[in-house]
Amino acid sequence: MRKLAAGNWKMNGTGADLAEIEALKAAHPAPSAEILICPPATLLARLSEAAAPAIASGGQDCHAAPSGAHTGDISADMLQDAGASYVILGHSERRSDHNEADADVAAKTRAAWAAGLIAVVCVGETEAQRDAGQTLGVIGAQLSGSVPGGATPENLVIAYEPVWAIGTGRVPSLDQIAEVHDFMRAELATRLGADIAAGIRLLYGGSVKPDNASEIFAVSNVDGALVGGASLKAADFSAIIAALETAPA
Ligand code: 13P
Repeated sequence: MRKLAAGNWKMNGTGADLAEIEALKAAHPAPSAEILICPPATLLARLSEAAAPAIASGGQDCHAAPSGAHTGDISADMLQDAGASYVILGHSERRSDHNEADADVAAKTRAAWAAGLIAVVCVGETEAQRDAGQTLGVIGAQLSGSVPGGATPENLVIAYEPVWAIGTGRVPSLDQIAEVHDFMRAELATRLGADIAAGIRLLYGGSVKPDNASEIFAVSNVDGALVGGASLKAADFSAIIAALETAPA
């Protein structure tokens, strides 16, 4: 399995920020971990061109339909045409800002697969759900509702992003991360078989920074990270990539 350092630029980035991609490429000419940047859609084509071939690119969402009368939306084919090989789906900000339910995420995942994209499906509990002892139940339901049949290591990545850890500087304990990641691996194994489940990359996301990346990457069943704020600057993201590349297998 090739580990994955994924950057989610969210609603940040214009042409001037392509300089960060040049700096990342210079710092990682032959990365052993896979590097992915998901910029805003307006920057995707230019960033894909600048990033290739060492760094992959992806969208942050797609519509479930291949085309049609959906003003403002973007199809998986369009992302692929703009150079993307991945798409983030079901991020908690999409789930809350746009009322996306598990069934919507599953439909978008099917659309992504039809376009040949790798789906990065996001799951994560709110703080209230964790406090109520519901974390594993919530993650299990999101996994089964958001991931359609036919998942493989080649078409699916899962990102565990506790909602309360996103952009807050708060990170779960290493035991809490291990508990969820071990649980996700077991759930996928039950559904897909142990061999397929073993190859699907499980990312942790939520306030990953250069100074906490190494300890997070040493946690069992953590195969990489989905990074928001710290992916915007090449120096920070580069340190996270280096931590992933030197983490225990
Ligand atoms: P931060 O790394 O800024 O907490 O964001 C995490 C995230 O939501 C990545 O998708």
